[in-house]
Amino acid sequence: MADPMHDAPRASITGRALHVFAFPSLLIAACLTGFLPAAPAFAKKPPPPVLTAAAAAVPDSYSAAAAKEIFAEGGNAVDAAVAIAFTLAVTYPDAGNIGGGGFMTLYVDNKPYFLDYREVAPQGATKEMYLDDKGNVEPDASLVGYRAVGVPGTVDGMWEAQKRFGKLKWKQVLAPAIKYASDGFVVQPWLQKRHDYAARSFAGKTNFDVYFSGLKAGATFRQPELAETLKRIASDGGREFYEGRTADLISTAMYGHGLVSKQDLQRYHAVWRDPLTADWNGYQIVTAPPPSSGGVGLIQLLKMKADLKPAFDGVQLNSVPYIHLVSQMEDRVFADRQQYLGDPDSYKIPVAKLLDDSYLASRAAEVKADAAPGATGVKPGLGDTMPERAQTTHFSVVDQWGNAVSNTYTLNGPFGAGVVVDGAGFLLNDEMDDFVTKPGTTNQFGVTGDEVNTIAPGRRPLSSMAPTILLKDGNVALVIGTPGGSRIFTTIFQVMTDLFDFGMAPQDALAAMRFHHQLIPPTTIFYEPYAPITGDLADALKAKGYKLEGQPFNGDVQMVRVNGTTPEADSDPRGAGVGAVFPLSPSK
Ligand code: DON
Repeated sequence: MADPMHDAPRASITGRALHVFAFPSLLIAACLTGFLPAAPAFAKKPPPPVLTAAAAAVPDSYSAAAAKEIFAEGGNAVDAAVAIAFTLAVTYPDAGNIGGGGFMTLYVDNKPYFLDYREVAPQGATKEMYLDDKGNVEPDASLVGYRAVGVPGTVDGMWEAQKRFGKLKWKQVLAPAIKYASDGFVVQPWLQKRHDYAARSFAGKTNFDVYFSGLKAGATFRQPELAETLKRIASDGGREFYEGRTADLISTAMYGHGLVSKQDLQRYHAVWRDPLTADWNGYQIVTAPPPSSGGVGLIQLLKMKADLKPAFDGVQLNSVPYIHLVSQMEDRVFADRQQYLGDPDSYKIPVAKLLDDSYLASRAAEVKADAAPGATGVKPGLGDTMPERAQTTHFSVVDQWGNAVSNTYTLNGPFGAGVVVDGAGFLLNDEMDDFVTKPGTTNQFGVTGDEVNTIAPGRRPLSSMAPTILLKDGNVALVIGTPGGSRIFTTIFQVMTDLFDFGMAPQDALAAMRFHHQLIPPTTIFYEPYAPITGDLADALKAKGYKLEGQPFNGDVQMVRVNGTTPEADSDPRGAGVGAVFPLSPSK
């Protein structure tokens, strides 16, 4: 199960030429086993850095410290990303995870990549598994407890990414997480608050509090079972989770309660896919393809707004006319999302058509300054060609060699399904709720879908996560993403627009008010607690025919912007994140 070469010194991905800094005998062994491509027979100096520093924007201070450690050891952006992900599984347990899944968008050695480590439905899953005898959706069945759990993808995703592009040893990138799990970390007040809220909803239903009642502000929280799990993964490799003792513990916990079996775990693999790319505003966007709707939605919004330049001319950010135009664009994006988007391994998804410039121009042409809000019952735009309190987290990383990782991963709801694998100490996701449990009904984010996103064994549920990288002339210019369910891509759209259309400084773009609209309910504008829509703006929107509704989703954008050769890392003022720049040490 262990991949011995994964612990060997690694081929550097940095710089123009492949650089190998292993002892010659190991190098020869690596070439003989075919694990590495043919490499120079002697070590060369590392390539020179192209940026003045490495940087990361992350959701908590522990993961920032992990990134610092990894960069100090000579790791690259992928090593740092994997160390951040494992650390958050310990210190940010409401969303950081090894029992969930996600997406990683990468830019490595000037090439874009996308890794899909989304959960899949277990083999025992059925289309109507969350319906009662009368065909009604059973409340909470897809959200709480073992039956809500999809086969987790995070560990295989991290293993694949680090195996392919990492520079350090696998054990090195797990070390910070193991330290926080064994020695503990000090709980911040925000984490206790999140715990207390979730504990009420899981009370009497799951084993959540057996493991997490110690999340008290100021206390040192230790997770000895999780530490052992992480040590097994560190010594045996990522597949241990799927084929070793951890897999046994998961299937034992599921027995008689849930569907994820040993076979489901053995069969699980993360998938490398082509990222979506699109030209916009002098930049190249690199973002998430299906099974996410996030990349398609983001590109559709950005391009429609560019097509509507004359209509937006002179329109003030977040004014009534601005919100009205953007809402109409969002109607069209969400209409397409619910009809056409799902798992590309189950259905042919018409991505090219949905991103076609003339298609988007025709959709943009339907958006009118004088339209009545929600009036026309917006339909999906391609015709009938074919038959989404929540937690997720994002981090953005660049290294000094110009490589970047944009990673969003999730348990779906806060602390996932609320169930902890006995003996292994980690939470499991409730990602099954991202499927359409019954066509026409909405999920926890208030979005619906069609046949294309119904439950089937092995299928990946439609996501909105959109880890995104922006390139300028082949170099990384921005790394961005956020949690927020169906608000994810409308949030990224707003921050990108604030940065590039309104010329705001990164911190101002992050602090600016955000709103959300998603076709259903047709005339509702959702506002956020951080910057609520009140006063004259609220009155004017109501007078225009909109309803206003507060939502608990704030978004928590983590972004790194590169200006020339200087990275700047910024974290959303709504969260507890850290934007950190790691200057080069003289030897690197
Ligand atoms: O994949 C998705 O789109 C959702 N499961 C993400 C959930 C989420 O972002 C919740 N965070 N607030």
